[in-house]
Amino acid sequence: MHCKIALVRGDGIGPEVVSAAVEVLEKTARVFGHAFEFLEAPAGGAAIDAFGEPLPEESVRVCKESGSVLLGAVGGPKWDSLPGHLRPERALLGLRKELKLYANLRPAKLYPALASHSPLRPDIARAGIDMVIVRELTGGIYYGQRGRRSSDLGNEAFDTEAYSEAEIERIGICAFELAMKRRKSLVSVDKANVLETSRLWREVMHRLSESYPEVEYRDMLVDNAAMQLVRRPAQFDVIVTSNMFGDILSDEASALTGSIGLLPSSSVGDGAFGLYEPIHGSAPDIAGQGIANPIGTILSAAMMLRYSFSLNLEAQRIEDAVGEALRHGLRTADIAGHRTAVSTEKMTQKILEFV
Ligand code: IPM
Ligand code: MG
Repeated sequence: MHCKIALVRGDGIGPEVVSAAVEVLEKTARVFGHAFEFLEAPAGGAAIDAFGEPLPEESVRVCKESGSVLLGAVGGPKWDSLPGHLRPERALLGLRKELKLYANLRPAKLYPALASHSPLRPDIARAGIDMVIVRELTGGIYYGQRGRRSSDLGNEAFDTEAYSEAEIERIGICAFELAMKRRKSLVSVDKANVLETSRLWREVMHRLSESYPEVEYRDMLVDNAAMQLVRRPAQFDVIVTSNMFGDILSDEASALTGSIGLLPSSSVGDGAFGLYEPIHGSAPDIAGQGIANPIGTILSAAMMLRYSFSLNLEAQRIEDAVGEALRHGLRTADIAGHRTAVSTEKMTQKILEFV
């Protein structure tokens, strides 16, 4: 199979972890007799430095012409003082919108071998954490009208949350379908006691739930959800929620596993095309030191093979190789605990051996 893969290496540790994942993909291609073609699509701070804008049109074109996108991370203190429309984060928001990637799937899973890294009490962690947060990604307050205006009280700023029924329905269907493939339990998170968008959200979800009688469905208010995630995370299978609530809860959920460096994510739309990236950010404090954990990005590459190219065996081989490397005791600094930490390079080499 010939696959065209766009690479958004990004900033901070982004380029390091993407290079590691590319090595793993290249080895996988050799082993299974595929040809993976990699195309560069600079975006984020790196593109601001090189071209004066976070998301050059050429990069969008390269992504659109590819079968999928692999992204490292964007952003860093260097660009923090730029105005909103020129910040590295604009690249991510622009890509999501341009590529119509309205569903963001963020799994949070506790690896038993790493359970001691969870910040939760052992008895709570041991009950298991294995959930996927389905976050709406191209609507809501992230994309509503915003601005500054003057009011009676002086200068004022505003951001608008708006959701159409169609937007809610398509993310809802995505979540119910995923729940059907998992443990058939879905929690929809909103703030329907206050927000009108949440009330519409709930109406649509309730209507959908009638078409999925096998899925055990519940509504949960977002403040309660934030609390339930730390009190009893084992109750969650699939969570569906809006763009901003999903942003916040997915960081919380991933932190519960104690291994944010291991978690992959995907952003998808209607077809097979998708954007895959680790859950972690650009970690500017450790950039360039060769110590970043490449596993989140390597597992994102595996997810990409499975969902965008239907290469299930190949994806499984990569996931198994990661499992083997961890079983052999290799740990990067973020998950080392009292073991000796290995470099990004060493971890990658070990995973390559097992592929
Ligand atoms: C994420 C990030 C982004 C978001 C930022 C970098 C714009 O926090 O992917 O969760 O808020 O969506
Ligand atoms: Mg976030």
